[in-house]
Amino acid sequence: MGSTERFDAVDIIRIKRDGGQWEDSHIAWVVDAYTRGVVSEEQMAALAMAIFLRGMSRREVASWTEAMIASGTTLDLGALPRPTVDKHSTGGVGDKITLALGPLVASFGVAVPQLSGRGLGHTGGTLDKLESIPGWSPELSAPRMRAILGEVGAVVAAASADLAPADRKLYALRDVTGTVDSIPLIASSIMSKKIAEGTSGLVLDVKVGSGAFMRSLDEARELARTMVDIGADAGVATRALLTNMDVPLGRTIGNALEVREAVEVLGGGGPSDVRELTCALARAMLEIAGLPDAEVEEALDDGRAMDTWRRMVRAQGGDPDAPLPTARHTHQVRAQREGYVDTLDALALGVGSWRLGAGRARKEDAVQAAAGIELHVEHGQRVTPGQPLLTLHTDTPERMDRALEAVLPGLGIGPKQPPARTLIYETIDAHPGA
Ligand code: URA
Repeated sequence: MGSTERFDAVDIIRIKRDGGQWEDSHIAWVVDAYTRGVVSEEQMAALAMAIFLRGMSRREVASWTEAMIASGTTLDLGALPRPTVDKHSTGGVGDKITLALGPLVASFGVAVPQLSGRGLGHTGGTLDKLESIPGWSPELSAPRMRAILGEVGAVVAAASADLAPADRKLYALRDVTGTVDSIPLIASSIMSKKIAEGTSGLVLDVKVGSGAFMRSLDEARELARTMVDIGADAGVATRALLTNMDVPLGRTIGNALEVREAVEVLGGGGPSDVRELTCALARAMLEIAGLPDAEVEEALDDGRAMDTWRRMVRAQGGDPDAPLPTARHTHQVRAQREGYVDTLDALALGVGSWRLGAGRARKEDAVQAAAGIELHVEHGQRVTPGQPLLTLHTDTPERMDRALEAVLPGLGIGPKQPPARTLIYETIDAHPGA
């Protein structure tokens, strides 16, 4: 009996392998057939490699993203009484920006529908961070999420398995076939999940540097442009900021440690880089939501953002006044010589924090809420011998040596003050239509 399928996977693989362009109907079919199990893992592996080597046109990427969204359910936020804007970060070390940003933007009457994941590898996940707050839970039904968005404005929920299931399947395959770092595949993967979440505006924080997916500004620019164009083609107002990830953000890495720092920012304090980036992203989100003159610093300084944070934590079962967990063991790293801190490498510190127990190697692993690294100095700061540079925190002291092996090569003290680093490189807005 002949197949009732519209196309043959091998024909579709050949088109891309030979440098041709797919029709939208090819893309819709192959993504759907892969989700149904009709296109095999081997065939999709060959196809992902063909995309990795040949790329996709703007139209193909838009169509691929649309097909991934159509593979699952989407959230309908149309009935909310507030405009919706979300933020996505491509992932960095010490990146706790989401925690303060959602409540800050929501304090201006805008809804921020964050669907987040758990961390894998050296960058932490927002859910892992918030789960260090006693009682807090990201498991919310769609109606409950909508209710919190309507009442509080900010919410952080776990993405359900039926949101862009084609991406979930494909991401696992890319991970084992050397096809993760393809710009069209990364861009469509991220944007399919964000568009399926139902937001009408989106700000992307595309990280550049040693602790980021994208190591060079040129690569980050291309990823940002691809994502911004996907957003525009799907009718979601999208803007990207390219930001520095050579050194960690702020003074803490690790779940509870990062929550503590985010709460400092919500109270009008905290490290200047975390505050500056939070405010820049908030301004971009509020501009997209039609509030270009919002005074975001004031909302941090006068308690409005903190008030929204407390309501958000309570709405999700958490106690904003409960003490955060602290680690059973700490170890301090001190300066060996006098000079300027000229290296504070994000990747080394991210891997160190992960080895202390703050991150997971496999999806199933648990994380330690209290594990991580506290930085006592900033990049460029002058230090004297014996001055504390870092404190490592863990509940499992047998992890300390392996963490130090990762961290120590990432610390450098030199005779000259290094140039001040740029935090925000540039902003990217959409090109007109495909
Ligand atoms: N994050 C995603 O969600 N997808 C990718 O492909 C890479 C990073």
